[in-house]
Amino acid sequence: LSALEYAVAQLMIFALIPNRYKLEHMKLIHILHCTGFISIDCGLRNSSSYNDSTTGLRFDPDSGFVEGGVRRRMSQEFMADATNEQQKSLRSFPRGSRNCYTLPSTIGKKYLLRAMFTYGNYDGLNKTGDGSLFLFGLHIGVNFWDTVNLTNWNPSVTKWKEVLTIAPSNSISICLINFGSGIPFISSLELRPLQDTMYPFVNTSVSINLYGRNRFGNVPNVLTRYPTDKYDRFWVTRILPYPWIMLNTTNIVESLPGNDFFNVPSAIMQTAWSKESNYSGFSISESRRNEDLTNQQLLPVFHFAEINGSNPDRRFNIYSAGELLFSDFSPSRFQVDSVHQNGRFLHNPNASFSLNKTHNSTLPPLINAQEVYILVRMDNLTTDSEDVNYMKEIKKHYNLTRKNWNGDPCSPREYSWEGLTCDYSKSNQNPRIVSVNLSTSGLEGGVAVSFMNMVSLENLDLSHNNLTGAIPDYQLKSLKILNLSNNQLVGPIPYSILQRFQAGLLDLRLEGNPVCSEVRDTYCSNKKNSIHIMLIAVTVPVALVSLLALMCIIRKLCWKGKSDHEDYAMYEEETSLHVDIRRFMYAELKLITNDFQSIIGKGGFGIVYHGMLENGDEVAVKVLMETSITESTDFLPEVQTLSKVHHKNLVNLKGYCQNKKCLALIYDFMQRGNLQQLIRGGDDYSLNWEQRLHIALDAAQGLEYLHESCTPSIVHRDVKTPNILLDKNLVGIISDFGLSRAFNDAHTHISTVAAGTLGYLDPEYHATFQLTVKTDVYSFGIVLLEIITGQPPVLMEPQTFHLPNWVRHKIAMGNIHDIVDKRLLDQYNASSLQSVVDLAMSCVENAAIDRPTMTEVVSRLKEWLPAVSSEKQPDSSSTRRTNSTDAEIRRQFQLAIFGVSNEENSFQSGYTDGMSELIPLSGR
Ligand SMILES: *[C@@H]1O[C@H](CO)[C@@H](O)[C@H](O)[C@H]1NC(C)=O
Ligand SMILES: *[C@@H]1O[C@H](CO)[C@@H](O)[C@H](O)[C@H]1NC(C)=O
Ligand SMILES: *[C@@H]1O[C@H](CO)[C@@H](O)[C@H](O)[C@H]1NC(C)=O
Ligand SMILES: *[C@@H]1O[C@H](CO)[C@@H](O)[C@H](O)[C@H]1NC(C)=O
Ligand SMILES: *[C@@H]1O[C@H](CO)[C@@H](O)[C@H](O)[C@H]1NC(C)=O
Ligand SMILES: *[C@@H]1O[C@H](CO)[C@@H](O)[C@H](O)[C@H]1NC(C)=O
Ligand SMILES: *[C@@H]1O[C@H](CO)[C@@H](O)[C@H](O)[C@H]1NC(C)=O
Repeated sequence: LSALEYAVAQLMIFALIPNRYKLEHMKLIHILHCTGFISIDCGLRNSSSYNDSTTGLRFDPDSGFVEGGVRRRMSQEFMADATNEQQKSLRSFPRGSRNCYTLPSTIGKKYLLRAMFTYGNYDGLNKTGDGSLFLFGLHIGVNFWDTVNLTNWNPSVTKWKEVLTIAPSNSISICLINFGSGIPFISSLELRPLQDTMYPFVNTSVSINLYGRNRFGNVPNVLTRYPTDKYDRFWVTRILPYPWIMLNTTNIVESLPGNDFFNVPSAIMQTAWSKESNYSGFSISESRRNEDLTNQQLLPVFHFAEINGSNPDRRFNIYSAGELLFSDFSPSRFQVDSVHQNGRFLHNPNASFSLNKTHNSTLPPLINAQEVYILVRMDNLTTDSEDVNYMKEIKKHYNLTRKNWNGDPCSPREYSWEGLTCDYSKSNQNPRIVSVNLSTSGLEGGVAVSFMNMVSLENLDLSHNNLTGAIPDYQLKSLKILNLSNNQLVGPIPYSILQRFQAGLLDLRLEGNPVCSEVRDTYCSNKKNSIHIMLIAVTVPVALVSLLALMCIIRKLCWKGKSDHEDYAMYEEETSLHVDIRRFMYAELKLITNDFQSIIGKGGFGIVYHGMLENGDEVAVKVLMETSITESTDFLPEVQTLSKVHHKNLVNLKGYCQNKKCLALIYDFMQRGNLQQLIRGGDDYSLNWEQRLHIALDAAQGLEYLHESCTPSIVHRDVKTPNILLDKNLVGIISDFGLSRAFNDAHTHISTVAAGTLGYLDPEYHATFQLTVKTDVYSFGIVLLEIITGQPPVLMEPQTFHLPNWVRHKIAMGNIHDIVDKRLLDQYNASSLQSVVDLAMSCVENAAIDRPTMTEVVSRLKEWLPAVSSEKQPDSSSTRRTNSTDAEIRRQFQLAIFGVSNEENSFQSGYTDGMSELIPLSGR
């Protein structure tokens, strides 16, 4: 309040009050001035501040403390009954999930903060009486405070919430959270400083939410507040008829010397409750409508003073829900004894407390006042205060009021400001802002200097605005990406920026600015530099040579070690695309994979880690790493498509993670590894004939779904045994579908002329480069042959043979039974063998037109599995499962699972004979 306003207020008050009160009121105004009360009547018209008629406190409109929301007034029918001015107007927040008031405070100081809510049917919708749930949330700063539940509430009755807290900075914010059960609103907001010695159990990590604050005795006013209580606490009067006895005194009741924990006003202590002397005690409890204490922790404070004129013998025990809190307590005469268990919170769902007199006490207990609080944890960290201040300056500088930028910028995470990316990775440090995206935000004027002061900022995107003037000298070392393209910026470009650009430390984008009319450097063109390596697969030996080289490149480009992960945490990015599946943050991935501890595979697209979700579900986290992924526009659309693909034989995409340098897909984890491992995993475990056919059918059904049920058809392009996974019941599940498209060219720096893996490649594709569903049918044929023969798609010994040729050769040489996997020990149905081999051979016809469709493949496979149509019988697989030992499962767990590109694995496992077929040709 300005000095002038004070003078006016004083004059007004002095004019109204009789002389003998003047001294008292001078004191009052003095307190007003020093205590720094902030009293806000929300929704009040500008410049219509007033002094409240009962408290004399000055109430101000809320403009300047809040940005969003609309001013409303309670409906006319309730106006006449309004008990105070503050009830009449309110502010409602139909837009935004979080809307905050920001009040000035002194850092580290203790405050009482009270918010009041009077619905008054302001919107004419009778929301408190229409039977539906009407509630919203309150945050104190970045922490949850309470729920305001106005369901079935009397519209003219005010609900208030009070919290005792320590200011985390030079402002305190109070946020209204839309839970989707009604539009949040608020009628008034009051901030009252407390003395720092008061409520000693309130500290920076613990605040307390008021549940009840009562005074007992015969008092005419229902509510006692300021000026009786100079901290403006609300004391609700509780009064009861006989046999209750209402005690009172006119003697001053003071605190014990040195006890300034509660500073309960004498007037409050001058009345009390007791009971007729033949009673041994009483209970006080307070249950509230719409408030449930079951999961809350309570902290009661009792205020006692003996105010009976004589010196009576009064001793009693105090119980909380049956638990003895204090024994043999005897109140002091005309002195306040405040009884509390310092900072100990209790479970007491009915907030019921009993006072029982002890044996030798002559009188029953008494009570003068009581407070009950609920624990509010203040565990969530606010954004680094410097970052907050700079963001506030930026917001002011560009007048960004239309953005719903209020409250803390990064915290709580789900309400962080749009366009910001924060680093939460250091769990005991305040979040920092690492990226600001204000692209296309209608910014005008110069580039704000505040950006330059944000020491953690790595990525600044101010493109497509109307920024003018010169580019400021940017000294900061943290900045890695500066996108100022499509503005009105002029030269010269500061040396500090150019230097960092030339050193490759800064990705600078300036195209579309006047400055670029003179400059011809890469930062002035939007073309990206990329390496193109053309690979043409001709024959096996040629491919082998190029692939060795390719493997090195892939390693360099894509497979980065663990240490690189740290950097990626900074790059969490916003996306405009709506993807239904869960989006993981980098930190979450780190958590669920236990810091990327367990590698279960290295596939064509990256490394696969084992992970465990919060609910215990096991997942495979495929981290796709590639430097140019940032520029990718097709990754997210692809994820979006994949998230819509659901089939029992296709691996389920559970979520994804996208940030600048690291993309990840999170899939269901498949316990039994992949088909390649099972077919050629050694002699300790082998699939029987029926299991093999079932898995073939599963895979066929998965492909059929991709081909026939998706529009447009999804061509897998890389069907192979390592991409057929097996769940715990040995159901075949196809993985890695759909990725090929997103990961061509743009992501690998390698133009892939060939899709798929050597040995599985459709020969017609080589000739025409036409990718069709028949490409998958060809690969499936190879898979089917592998299933029958247990051989790799390309055999190396005694001479190099492509599997279909080997089969033809064997059949021509003697009889068909020679091709069957020896591990089947001749336990197979000879009549189905011929048909399955025929089917497989038709799939690998050279001309696509001669191959069957997946639908035909499915129906033919089903013919040979008549007992089980499309559903797998649990028996066969579970019998097999019992055969395998835990060690075996662990071993498979260790092996690669997703889209194994194999060379890594086979080297490790010593399967060097499988080398040729294991090398991917595509370079993905
Ligand atoms: C009220 O004041 C605020 C800022 O003090 C201003 O933005 C707003 O336009 C004013 N409203 C009216 C109706 O004058
Ligand atoms: C609000 O709804 C309740 C319950 O339907 C009804 O009893 C009450 O009359 C309504 N009040 C108004 C003002 O419409
Ligand atoms: C802290 O923040 C998390 C999310 O960022 C939120 O879910 C949680 O409710 C917050 N905790 C409190 C006590 O408000
Ligand atoms: C204390 O008094 C209350 C109310 O008179 C009674 O319900 C309760 O059982 C008593 N508790 C003990 C421990 O005596
Ligand atoms: C809100 O109050 C209604 C009515 O008493 C109750 O049914 C509901 O469970 C309460 N909701 C919450 C979240 O407290
Ligand atoms: C705050 O108080 C609680 C108990 O009242 C205590 O456990 C905690 O350590 C305190 N925190 C700080 C930061 O003092
Ligand atoms: C920039 O300003 C001009 C005129 O002031 C306006 O026509 C144009 O639309 C603005 N461009 C952007 C991107 O806001």
